Amino acid sequence: MMASNMSENKLFNLLSDMKHYHKTYAAYCSKTNKWQEWQKWTESAEFESNVVANLSKNFSGNMDQPIRVLGIGSGDGILEMHQLRKLAAKFPKISASVVEPSELITKYKDTVGRNPVADNITFEWYKQTFDEYLACHGSEKKYHFISVVHAVYFLGDPDVFIKKMYKLLEPGGILLVILLTDHTGSGSIPLHQSELKDDKTTNNYVNSSQVKATLEKLQIEYTQSIYKETTDITDFMTNDDSEEGELLLDFLTSTINFRKSAPYDVRARVMRHFQQGSHIEKTDDGDEKISYKHTSDVAILFVTRRDRAK
Ligand SMILES: C[S@@+](CC[C@H](N)C(=O)[O-])C[C@H]1O[C@@H](n2cnc3c(N)ncnc32)[C@H](O)[C@@H]1O
Repeated sequence: MMASNMSENKLFNLLSDMKHYHKTYAAYCSKTNKWQEWQKWTESAEFESNVVANLSKNFSGNMDQPIRVLGIGSGDGILEMHQLRKLAAKFPKISASVVEPSELITKYKDTVGRNPVADNITFEWYKQTFDEYLACHGSEKKYHFISVVHAVYFLGDPDVFIKKMYKLLEPGGILLVILLTDHTGSGSIPLHQSELKDDKTTNNYVNSSQVKATLEKLQIEYTQSIYKETTDITDFMTNDDSEEGELLLDFLTSTINFRKSAPYDVRARVMRHFQQGSHIEKTDDGDEKISYKHTSDVAILFVTRRDRAK
């Protein structure tokens, strides 16, 4: 086995380069079944009872007002549009605000411009980070439903961002946070963070344990459920030259140029992890694909704002 040379093999955390992050996320999106899974989940009894029915119970007395929905880190809106469609079927008017700092917001805007989600939804677009949005608009405008899907990783300290989100909720409003557990996603990959040499971003991904600890500290009740997601990793398992495969590997390891920059032993350990966590499936056209199963922890948080802000 070749000895690892850490001084030559610096590993940089993916979150330090958002341009590269977006490329890797696009590669991952093209290889995951999460879109189908999340669409099913939004149509499930769980979303219906925890979100739609609760909003209906808490706000049905005030139906002439639009239900105000806030998406934070909405990306291109694919997941959020499923949620909005469900809400639009229940409530007469929806006012949706989208806070997304990247160019993906333009894609979201174009999609709803071409294919309106429903006639009773109006959109407000904020091409800003969550903190920029708060700095410009404050916390006066309250929301009935706030949805944060795989975006808390970018928001810093959960003790701080949960309080800010809570403050934006109407009494009886619902906050939905979807994020990875500490034992899934890049957190599950045996790539010790001490090997990430980029000092600027030594903070690990925020995970569900940290967010749950914050909620418990603030005595905010939540419920959670788990869902499984599968990613097709054939590209990087079978072809060292696949650009898409490299991007997917970067996304899953949360590292920039993982294959080129990781020391041999780290690479071997990580590839073994993928091998052990995957299985071969036949595709509809008879080809073989290597599917890597990982579990995502979905924390669904129900928050009733009391008089006193947390
Ligand atoms: C993993 S993507 C998730 C996108 C979408 N919610 C989904 O599930 O497909 C994370 C998103 O958070 C956005 N983001 C990054 N930093 C942010 C911040 N400080 N405030 C709000 N959104 C942020 C990114 O631009 C990106 O679109």
